[in-house]
Amino acid sequence: MKAIVYTKYGTPDVLELKEVDKPIPKDNEVLIKVYAVSINDWDLGLLQGDLINRLMNGLLKPKIKILGSDIAGRIEAIGKNVKKFQLGDEVYGDLSGRWGGFAEYSCARENELALKPVAMSFEEAAAIPQAGMLAIQGLHDKGQIHSGQKLLINGAGGGVGTFAVQIAKLYGAEVTGVDNSGKLDMMRSMGFDHVINYKQEDFTKNGHCYDLILDVKTNRSISDYARALCSNGIYVTVGGSMVRLLQALILGPWISMISKKNIRIVGLKQNKDLAFMNELFEAGKIKPVIDGPYKLDEVPKAFRHFGEGAHKGKVVITV
Ligand SMILES: NC(=O)c1ccc[n+]([C@@H]2O[C@H](COP(=O)([O-])OP(=O)(O)OC[C@H]3O[C@@H](n4cnc5c(N)ncnc54)[C@H](OP(=O)(O)O)[C@@H]3O)[C@@H](O)[C@H]2O)c1
Repeated sequence: MKAIVYTKYGTPDVLELKEVDKPIPKDNEVLIKVYAVSINDWDLGLLQGDLINRLMNGLLKPKIKILGSDIAGRIEAIGKNVKKFQLGDEVYGDLSGRWGGFAEYSCARENELALKPVAMSFEEAAAIPQAGMLAIQGLHDKGQIHSGQKLLINGAGGGVGTFAVQIAKLYGAEVTGVDNSGKLDMMRSMGFDHVINYKQEDFTKNGHCYDLILDVKTNRSISDYARALCSNGIYVTVGGSMVRLLQALILGPWISMISKKNIRIVGLKQNKDLAFMNELFEAGKIKPVIDGPYKLDEVPKAFRHFGEGAHKGKVVITV
């Protein structure tokens, strides 16, 4: 089969289209003919090989050589212990931890997958798993979003933000999105009530307060975020600068004790809410924002586009 392979850490130039062996599913796995896959921030980290990703995937060179976690495709073979799926089922899910998505075939355990609604394209399905779960778990599980709140999303024009605004609108939230100037028109058109260009305005210093902040960049100090929260407000980070995340982890409980403001961190529960996303999609309440789709041999170009931060919504590859 064809796959995008890397054998050393680096820029997207180290990604090569190669012929490799088709994977064989174990007894508890299915083999999926992959039709679409999307790029996540985690893929970029694993490609570039920062320290944390090297600890996970090999200090000197990558152990897992095919990246890509969010896949959608059709089941082509089934291990003998698989109960939930049948041959021909159209499925999607987040395979991070095993990766292998930038390829014509991939294996997955049944708990990593959900059935894809018929009306959902493979590209739409591949856009959903990681960003969609972070948006739901950030707003619902950690943020306890409720009706009529003022929400700010920092890093709003990428994967998580474009799902989060659609979910927040179901609660009648007034949503402010922060991103660069190139994404603000797209963000307005998809329902953000207010947009802020982070290169021109610091939302933590503009005098406004928010009931809930969902942050995908975590690039400011925790006291800045606390200042931007209204009384009883909740700040939820899904990721970003490691130093800032550590700060949130250590100082968050203190801030909660002295100020009635909450600082929370999302630990992704992979694929937990895919059934809920299916319901929202089928009810016409969620529509993934797709950048692309690119072809499999264009994955290096797609990574460059993603790495430059030029993408809007999710960068998707059709296989
Ligand atoms: N918690 C967990 O368990 C877990 C698991 C997996 C992933 N994650 C995290 O989830 C996040 C992925 O989010 P995503 O898919 O939405 O990423 P994304 O698609 O890259 O979107 C991030 C957006 O933030 C914008 N941005 C960059 N710098 C900014 C700044 N200073 N202020 C405001 N916006 C800025 C980017 O635009 P420009 O760059 O063009 O300016 C981009 O539009 C990452 O932080 C990742 O580490 C967490």
